[in-house]
Amino acid sequence: MASDYPVVNTHNEWDPLEEIIVGIVEGARIPPWETVTPAVVHHDYLLDFYRQNGGQPWPQELVEAAQKDIAEFVHILEAEGVTVRRPSLYDTAKPFSTPDFESLSSCGALMPRDVLLVIGDQIIEAPMGWRSRHHENHAYKDLCKEYFRQGARWVSAPRPQLSEASYKKDFLPPAEDEPMRTILTEHEPLFDAADVIKCGKDIFVAQSSCCNRAGIDWLQRHLGDAYTVHEVEVFDTHPMHIDATFYPLAPGKLLINPERVKKIPEIFKKSGWDILVCPPPNMPDSHPMYTCSKWLSMNVLMLDEERVIVSKGEDDIIRALKDWGFKPIECSFYHFESIAGGLHCATVDIRRRGELQSYF
Ligand code: ALA
Repeated sequence: MASDYPVVNTHNEWDPLEEIIVGIVEGARIPPWETVTPAVVHHDYLLDFYRQNGGQPWPQELVEAAQKDIAEFVHILEAEGVTVRRPSLYDTAKPFSTPDFESLSSCGALMPRDVLLVIGDQIIEAPMGWRSRHHENHAYKDLCKEYFRQGARWVSAPRPQLSEASYKKDFLPPAEDEPMRTILTEHEPLFDAADVIKCGKDIFVAQSSCCNRAGIDWLQRHLGDAYTVHEVEVFDTHPMHIDATFYPLAPGKLLINPERVKKIPEIFKKSGWDILVCPPPNMPDSHPMYTCSKWLSMNVLMLDEERVIVSKGEDDIIRALKDWGFKPIECSFYHFESIAGGLHCATVDIRRRGELQSYF
């Protein structure tokens, strides 16, 4: 269907959604062990699993279950009138090396949110903090070329070297009662696109084990005076990406993770935004989670200011969202979450109907 908006047009998380990229499970491999692994994997008991199995395909039963979830998600999006695009399969099994590092394989194209940062009519390929994800942008080249031909701006942040100088030596994740720290040095600008969340002319970013201060500075300078990039103060023992931590869902409504947000930026308070405190996740402890935490419960996807797709089983946030005036749509997603991320991670919005404005 023809749109009245530029082909790439996304200013926030809630304008009515027209087109989105949804990740694919095909080609997904267990992330190979690398320097960053112990800083991002939430459970220490999984470290041996990564040491032993990294670079191999995920077990078939996990893949098939994740594929069923993604199919249901795509079906819901299409039924709600959204155009769904998919990445291209690339050779994820191929080992690769650069002058600075070697990787046993790539990881796949499960989570477009991490790779492409879409701001306004611009697609920014993120530098990416994991070595094994260095070539993950390949999965999106066909789509980026198509959007470019149709008028979008398309740029890549400086490709990082990711030598040992980018990571602190002998890094140990912080304990709950210690100050936040991440594995990254300030050797070069680094961020994943999912370390960033949009709210019109204000962009919010949290440092993580994929995002350093230099990365935030790069983004501010690249975007220029039309935008203000704010760093959000968070605490996470294994920080990676902002969208299970701090999430402006709609004008005046900020969803926060009570365990992770240490300080709500003043502008939200000054402008009278409602602070929606996410209830604890309902996912049972017995459910396997290989990369992310159970807080994927708040990794929802807004279709507009009211309709929101939520992971089925997360009854407490579903109830809270209804009380806050939203219309939740449930989608089975626990199996995709086991090997990848949540509904927001699994997507990147390409076009929403709306204009750039300030919400403060
Ligand atoms: N890495 C984030 C979490 O696991 C998405 O909570």
